[in-house]
Amino acid sequence: MASTGSCTVIVGCQWGDEGKGKIVDVLAENVDIVARYQGGANAGHTVHVGDDEFVLHQIPSGILHEGRRCLLGNGVVLDVHQFFQEYDALVARGIDIAGRVGVSYRSQMLMPYHRWLDRAVEDSAAVKIGTTGRGIGPAYEDKAGRRGVRVADLLDPERLAKRIDAAQDRVVARLDELGADRAELERAMDETLALGERLLGLATDVGPEISAALREGRNVLLEGAQGTALDLDHGTYPFVTSSNTTAGGAATGTGIGPTSITDVIGVVKAYTTRVGEGPLPTGFDPEMDEHIRQLGGEFGATTGRPRRCGWFDSVLTRYASQVNGLTGVAVTKLDVLDTLHEVRIATAYRMPNGKVREFFPADTWSLSHVEPVYETMPGWQAPTGDVRRLEDLPKNARAYLDRIEELTHAPVRWISVGSKRSQIIPVG
Ligand code: GDP
Ligand code: IMO
Ligand code: MG
Repeated sequence: MASTGSCTVIVGCQWGDEGKGKIVDVLAENVDIVARYQGGANAGHTVHVGDDEFVLHQIPSGILHEGRRCLLGNGVVLDVHQFFQEYDALVARGIDIAGRVGVSYRSQMLMPYHRWLDRAVEDSAAVKIGTTGRGIGPAYEDKAGRRGVRVADLLDPERLAKRIDAAQDRVVARLDELGADRAELERAMDETLALGERLLGLATDVGPEISAALREGRNVLLEGAQGTALDLDHGTYPFVTSSNTTAGGAATGTGIGPTSITDVIGVVKAYTTRVGEGPLPTGFDPEMDEHIRQLGGEFGATTGRPRRCGWFDSVLTRYASQVNGLTGVAVTKLDVLDTLHEVRIATAYRMPNGKVREFFPADTWSLSHVEPVYETMPGWQAPTGDVRRLEDLPKNARAYLDRIEELTHAPVRWISVGSKRSQIIPVG
């Protein structure tokens, strides 16, 4: 009997944009299938191949490796209009994707009214989340409310019409109240439904397909979107996204058993960023914030918004290590810190009552008032972008990585020193 293949979850360990797309692209070299397990077009995963840059929102980052099968699991909310735009743009750029993309019959369809509601609700909310405006929250609300429309509903046009009517009935009054342009929405609905047949052509049973591949000894990556601190249950609620971004979501979001997962790799940026509202305990002062944003190109891949930047927060990455059960870490964007004369790592938080704690608190509001306890280390002040072996990294950069590993409670397995595929240092 063939040996079972490996099944590795790639999960963000901060507030998203850790460089998951780059790491998935690198690791896709040795796998047969890459599957997304949650989220939707709120994700923006940037991959550089040669001189070309690709930003993927819904299609997994394995698509740029010839022959890899790329799947969207049941945990995904699928914006079919945006999905085919992305699909066709890849084809137009010469990527051969025929037969390589599959969508779960169980995926939820994200409808134009979800996008509309997302923006309208956000505009009128007292506590803003700073969403990407891609309809994510309302789509998951309909899923949990059992009003959602799934890809499988496309199999029967009559049932589909009933499902849509039921879902729309609930939101119509709300949309009117919010001043929606009904004619525009109807046009968008027609466009969405016109793509139904094309989508059915890609529909598959994702869980069984992955399980069969694993049984045949083939390797699989499960690609997370967003990050641990944006997880609906484990993140900085309510400043989170509406899905389980953490590794547990990889099993439920694809339809395989958790025992099939062989590795969980956490992607951590060598510093911290956040886009959207909510606390960022290690945030820089405005001058340093701007400096690192420019050095790291920290602007949202989906919305173009500037990302807030801060020092490495090991309170968060240690928590991420525990929540996700990390077996390894990929540290990205080390090169962005090359010119600093010193670097800092937060090891604990001093709470407003003076108590020092090393654990990430559940009370999000208290996070806005914590004072990080920092360790300061000397910078390396040398370029790392051309380094390809751990032993060739400057001594101070290695000490920084050693400390990240120690405080995060998981071994560093890869170090990324630039956005290119080749700019990666495997460890061990
Ligand atoms: P994702 O959402 O986690 O896939 O991350 P994004 O693509 O939104 O943001 C990461 C950004 O950093 C992208 O523009 C990548 O091209 C870039 N990037 C990834 N790894 C590195 C690295 O090691 N160094 C540098 N300088 N840029 C990187
Ligand atoms: P990737 O996969 C960074 C943030 C939004 C907002 C919150 C909720 O590229 O790492 P949503 O639209 O999901 O309802 O917004 O989550 N957010 C992200 N931040 N990277 C992402 O994805 C994100 N997806 C959502 O900015 O704060
Ligand atoms: Mg991103």
